[in-house]
Amino acid sequence: MKLCKKNVWSLLLISVSLTAGEVLFSPPDEQTIPAGKTGDLIRYGKELVTNFPYYLGPKGKVGHFGGNGLGCNNCHLDSGRRPYGLNYFSVHARYPQYRGREGKFLTLSQRVNNCIERPLNGKKMPLDSKEMLAIVSYMKWLGTGVPTGAHVPGDELKEITLPNRAADLNNGKVVYENYCASCHGKNGEGQIKPDGIAYTYPPLWGYMSYQPGSSMHRVIKAAQFIKYNMPLGVTWENPILTDEQAIDVAAYINDDHRKRPKPNLTKEYPYIEDRPVSYHMGPYPDPFSQEEHKFGDYNPIIQWRKEHNVTTTY
Ligand code: HEC
Ligand code: HEC
Repeated sequence: MKLCKKNVWSLLLISVSLTAGEVLFSPPDEQTIPAGKTGDLIRYGKELVTNFPYYLGPKGKVGHFGGNGLGCNNCHLDSGRRPYGLNYFSVHARYPQYRGREGKFLTLSQRVNNCIERPLNGKKMPLDSKEMLAIVSYMKWLGTGVPTGAHVPGDELKEITLPNRAADLNNGKVVYENYCASCHGKNGEGQIKPDGIAYTYPPLWGYMSYQPGSSMHRVIKAAQFIKYNMPLGVTWENPILTDEQAIDVAAYINDDHRKRPKPNLTKEYPYIEDRPVSYHMGPYPDPFSQEEHKFGDYNPIIQWRKEHNVTTTY
């Protein structure tokens, strides 16, 4: 191609738009799942992550591994296809991976079991079961084109600016009542479907909700999810809540006074230096209190950790 003036301009424009508005990864179209046995397994995996409780929940028709009515899709939105919505874009490319919570390397299947045990309050699925292979095959297919070990734009939760103050539980309650309670219920109980198997609106606390120690229980992670995905209908492009409101309501939901299933957390984060900034239980690799880790102000903790070369995962 001859680089006439017009082409130079269009090349410049392309590179500007790439840096200004980052092009997000877009997973392949479902129509492209191949025919045959491999395709059947991928389709089964998609069905499982979309309707988990019907297959593998307490009333599941294939097995009983999930311990409540939650399904993957309640958090990993649109069958794991939503940018900044806990998608599965690059998971297959990034595992096996070191995990601080266990203090060792986990395969993708073991990481899936983590979510079955914690948010779903259930028990591990056999790693060689058809269902586990199907879920991992679906994730692999969804990440077609993602380089091994890489992140792609839009695959993580979107950062928010952490306020220079601790989360305000009173304001969190106001936000909750105004923006969340209509679906998730006055007492965070959600709304079960008439079939009693899965939720129309999932619970946010109580014994039917996720365990403490689940990633959604950490205020910063929950706030990042909430800001760009809730109330239902918002996307990362048109959020409604401010960053402060997202932190306050995430703290309100995850207040440790709330009832949740009671897992044994004593074995979590065997190496103290791996404890995320908003993990709810000490000891910590820094001089800040449990209260400060739970509700903030997170900024001095992050700054201290950076200065002392300690991991700053949220
Ligand atoms: C209550 C919400 C919730 C439910 C339900 C849930 N997860 Fe998760 N899951 C999370 C959060 C939060 C993370 C952490 C993401 C992060 O660290 O940014 C996560 C992480 C993961 C990861 C690792 C992602 C990564 O980038 O390392 C996988 C894989 C996963 N979940 C699969 C599943 C599957 C499969 C199910 C259903 C069996 C499920 N999850 C159910 C909230 C949930
Ligand atoms: C219009 C109904 C609606 C409103 C309002 C709403 N949500 Fe949700 N929320 C949902 C649905 C539905 C899901 C599950 C997504 C799915 O299954 O596709 C969900 C999922 C969630 C989850 C992850 C699942 C879980 O059990 O933890 C969190 C956290 C959450 N919402 C928090 C909030 C917060 C905080 C607000 C208020 C700022 C809010 N939601 C407002 C309908 C709603």
